[in-house]
Amino acid sequence: MVNLGVLVSGSGSNLQAIIDNIEAGRVDANIKIVISNVPDVYALERAKKHGIPSRVIPHRGLKREEYDQKLVEALRDQGVELVVLAGFMRIITPVLLRAFPLRVINIHPALLPAFPGTHVWQTQIDYGVKFAGCTVHFVDEGTDTGPIIIQAVVPVYDDDTADTLNARILKQEHKIYSQAIQMYAEGRLEVQGHRVLAKGMPKAPDSFMINPPAKILE
Ligand code: GAR
Repeated sequence: MVNLGVLVSGSGSNLQAIIDNIEAGRVDANIKIVISNVPDVYALERAKKHGIPSRVIPHRGLKREEYDQKLVEALRDQGVELVVLAGFMRIITPVLLRAFPLRVINIHPALLPAFPGTHVWQTQIDYGVKFAGCTVHFVDEGTDTGPIIIQAVVPVYDDDTADTLNARILKQEHKIYSQAIQMYAEGRLEVQGHRVLAKGMPKAPDSFMINPPAKILE
């Protein structure tokens, strides 16, 4: 059983998926605390509905390092082992990373290392990629540069908007974040350099998607 601290800034749909998977017995974890830097976000409601302790720690007026020190204290107070960033819209400093080495994970709505940063749905559409996706990774000192734990791929369609692409990616986020946490809980994640090996996990099928579909091959 791994003790989680989940950091949020918004709607918290990833938080909800993790809660649901824990409650269904699919993820062997316990959310000790949900922390938001923004008051009144829906993620806090979600925590409340499930009896999970939550706190608002506002960032205004604090240096990034000072803010992260507050986070570290709050997380340590609750005996948190793994810090889960779930739509937490803050840049993390070494203060948090040193307190939780290789124990901070993040979800990002693109196939990293492509499209780091924020609000990347329209960026992916405008670039014209035919596939997008999402990535769960360990957080390091860069922006969205840490070792990759798991990724999911979705197609991008000609008529996509940022909203439709976001919805398609989000569905997969809700699966892979819980899967990543469960692999961590089972002690399967082995970091070798920049690679994360998933010990004892089956291989994904050696299949492919082509977008647009290869009509000539049908
Ligand atoms: C998710 O799409 C997540 O990938 C993204 O914020 C959203 C949070 O949604 N995170 C980032 O862009 C981090 N750079 P949620 O609050 O409904 O879980």
